[in-house]
Amino acid sequence: MKASIILFAACFAGLAAAHGIVQEMIIDGKSYGGFQPYTDIYQNPRPQRIGWSIPSNGPVEDITSKAIACNTDSQPAPLTAPATAGSEIKFLWTQWPESHRGPTMTYLASCTSGDCRKEDPSTLNWFKIDHAGLNADGTWASDILIKNNNTWAVTIPKELKPGPYLIRHELLALHSSSQTNGAQFYPMCVNLDIKGTGMSVPDKTVKFPGAYKPDNKGVLVNIYYPPLKYYDIPGPPLVKLVSSGSGPGNGGDVYTEPIVTPTPTPSIPVVTVTPSAVQTPVEFPDASSTDSPVYKSPTEAPQDTITPPTTPTPTPTPTPTPAPKKPHSCPRRKVKRVISGELRRIIREETERIIREETKRIIMEELKKRDSA
Ligand SMILES: *[C@@H]1O[C@H](CO)[C@@H](O)[C@H](O)[C@H]1NC(C)=O
Repeated sequence: MKASIILFAACFAGLAAAHGIVQEMIIDGKSYGGFQPYTDIYQNPRPQRIGWSIPSNGPVEDITSKAIACNTDSQPAPLTAPATAGSEIKFLWTQWPESHRGPTMTYLASCTSGDCRKEDPSTLNWFKIDHAGLNADGTWASDILIKNNNTWAVTIPKELKPGPYLIRHELLALHSSSQTNGAQFYPMCVNLDIKGTGMSVPDKTVKFPGAYKPDNKGVLVNIYYPPLKYYDIPGPPLVKLVSSGSGPGNGGDVYTEPIVTPTPTPSIPVVTVTPSAVQTPVEFPDASSTDSPVYKSPTEAPQDTITPPTTPTPTPTPTPTPAPKKPHSCPRRKVKRVISGELRRIIREETERIIREETKRIIMEELKKRDSA
């Protein structure tokens, strides 16, 4: 393949590959563009968003890291969207792959400093306002999302005390979650200014990281075999709002997981799988270790309310530049990072698929043998 084709493909691999981002939000009937990791940081002037930055359309896999709060190295969004308590927020994702089955979870956290852009999302007190996982008919929240034009809608609790909040919406893809850190989380955060007359605050809250553990039943789970009858959505239960009086607005207690009595594991036939047949350790260059362009939060004066997007006026460049900066330029370093990151992911997902199918085949064979014995 020609180098130029590879470069071109790599530039757009992120858009075409089997991952996703929220590309649009509808809040109080108004449409807002989502943060675009592949173009926003190269544009001048940079598009002003309500959504915190994300580095790519790829997942967060280390749920013990700060990245699980608002995505990897997430930087504050300069704008804030007004939202009425009791109204619906729609998250429009890019084409979500059917194979990325799993739940969706949405949380809010009060920005107690009064300005969400000054908060460290990993220190905020989060509470869950929406979740959905496996349905009785075997379909997942992700299947419903795809059916609804890749859209998920959540409702801001009507009785919630108004104020500045971060909303954290995410999808979780479970196609590789039978191995530790194989679950793929796609979190994103948005600045909201919630209006209303509510007086209530959450009774319990959680932290990110903290709310999810790598060995949670809904995180380390094989969704293929044996067939799942029940799926435990990660994180706390949906929030219970309590009257605040003149409370601080972020709840007092910290949610702790209930002690679960271990359920007897269903007896499945023990199958010995020859390691050589299925395990092909593959070494990849570690893409995450290479330098990536760092997103610096805008230094403009703070804005409290949304301003209509201004038409970008071309500013004359005082110093002569060798080539005009294209909005969709794709610097080499970024390309390299995207290539190795995407390749790594594709190869890993392919390997896992083969292992899964092979394991299933062997189990089926074993079952057949037993039946006929
Ligand atoms: C479906 O999603 C696309 C992309 O986000 C959006 O532009 C379009 O308006 C949506 N259609 C409907 C009917 O909501």
